Amino acid sequence: MSASSAQAEALNRRYTDASAEEILAAALRAFHPHLVFACSLGLEDVVVLDLIARGDPKPRIFTLDTGRLNQETYDTLAALKARYGLPIEVYFPRTDAVQALLAAKGPNSFYESLENRRECCHIRKVEPLGRALAGASAWITGLRRAQASSRSAVGAFQWDPANGGLVKVNPLCGWSLDQVWAYVRAHDMPYNPLHDQGYPSIGCAPCSRAVQPGEDVRSGRWWWEQPEQKECGLHNQSRKKAVP
Ligand code: ADX
Ligand code: SF4
Repeated sequence: MSASSAQAEALNRRYTDASAEEILAAALRAFHPHLVFACSLGLEDVVVLDLIARGDPKPRIFTLDTGRLNQETYDTLAALKARYGLPIEVYFPRTDAVQALLAAKGPNSFYESLENRRECCHIRKVEPLGRALAGASAWITGLRRAQASSRSAVGAFQWDPANGGLVKVNPLCGWSLDQVWAYVRAHDMPYNPLHDQGYPSIGCAPCSRAVQPGEDVRSGRWWWEQPEQKECGLHNQSRKKAVP
């Protein structure tokens, strides 16, 4: 089953002001069983996981383990598995690509240049994402417009040409961070303890840090880069291959 950009646009028009539950239900009607949820284990994705757990049918769920995650993130994965009992598939980077990168540039090349950082993100996140999305017509994310200037146009449904042509579903696109926290607290959900240590956004350990109260929510991600550069490649509209 394949999806089209026209289908994404039509769904987006229809569900632009819909609730997260309605967006998820519409996505399942349109794309199940060719719908997958990319769960980063961050706060937004904990909410999406809870919404998925309440519904039926359930999409496939996967997470990308870059090999550079914080221990707290693995603890969160374990806690979510225990709470929901849902299968969460784990995708790893290709061993040969990681070994070649480390042999050529060492373990911390991402701090040295934007090109190196994108190369590491490509090997550890973008290439595994491609494998995780194989055969899917649509994928669900926890993206919100308020997260970043680069995300201000995120809609409920959007066409994703960068990942081989499929629909991206963003049930929380219109939510504020306060709404996300209110949901997590109301349902007493497990979440990454780093959120209570000043990390509003969590990716890999060497590329995420705590921020001061009032600072931009993504300012702790790749903090040495400019705001418009702070995307790992999972959500670029078009993608230049970072690796030769
Ligand atoms: S990132 O591009 O900067 O890494 P962010 O951490 O804000 O993205 O997450 C945005 C969405 O991308 C998540 O809600 C999730 O759907 C997807 N995502 C990001 N990282 C992962 C991951 N490691 N595994 C699965 N999905 C991910
Ligand atoms: Fe590599 Fe950092 Fe990207 Fe993780 S976030 S894949 S460690 S560059």
